[in-house]
Amino acid sequence: MTKVPTLRLDRLLANLGYGSRREIQMLINRSCFRLDGEVLRKVDQKMELTPDLTDRLEYFREKLDPLPGLVAMMNKPLGATCSHNEAGDLVYRLLPERWQKREPKISTIGRLDKDTSGLLLLTDDGDYLHQVISPKRHVPKRYRATLDRPLRGDEGALFASGLQLENEKTPCLPASLEVLSEREAVLTITEGRYHQVRRMFAAVGNHVVALRRLSIGGLVLPDDLAPGEYRLLSADEKAAVLVIASEAKQSI
Ligand code: URA
Repeated sequence: MTKVPTLRLDRLLANLGYGSRREIQMLINRSCFRLDGEVLRKVDQKMELTPDLTDRLEYFREKLDPLPGLVAMMNKPLGATCSHNEAGDLVYRLLPERWQKREPKISTIGRLDKDTSGLLLLTDDGDYLHQVISPKRHVPKRYRATLDRPLRGDEGALFASGLQLENEKTPCLPASLEVLSEREAVLTITEGRYHQVRRMFAAVGNHVVALRRLSIGGLVLPDDLAPGEYRLLSADEKAAVLVIASEAKQSI
């Protein structure tokens, strides 16, 4: 049987962004945290990190934030940057303040350009992040592109054959194009090269004027998640991101 990891209460709460260990001592003194309805009084109490722990813990009678291992999806708005370090409007600012103070840090799973909107995954789980972005997995990502010029007609075949982009050593993996109209198409790629979608259309003489990510693996951006909104993924949704990957890999 695998041993359940434990953490001191003050360390757990500090990692979840509830304050410094000193501040947490003060919150504990004020009886702010409860486990199974009972007030927690000892900062050095060892907490077993079982999956149900967040349901059992309360802060001011509200459910505690998710334990480490959180995965969320966001409908990334235009203009927000996927970076911890740059100045300006960062996607992390759209998350609750406490989430921004967590350790390990919440990071985006891959990036979307400032001018790209749509499905963005965020996590503090390094293993999950690497599974999704691993070049071995080929998780398909679908993008809806609006183009400056009408499609010529040969783009689908060129993308499917593995396009060679400028300044790249190897050609892109085969990608599939679904034409929606003269200037609108859905492109599915299974890698994450820098500005890949924009560069692929540029390589066939076009220009992307709007780009939105629709899905990652089997997870589709829900219609009811407005730009700037986020929500946690269920275990099934987390798995869906990866499950379709192996099936899609075989069919490409
Ligand atoms: N490809 C791009 O060109 N931009 C993105 O944001 C994502 C994929």
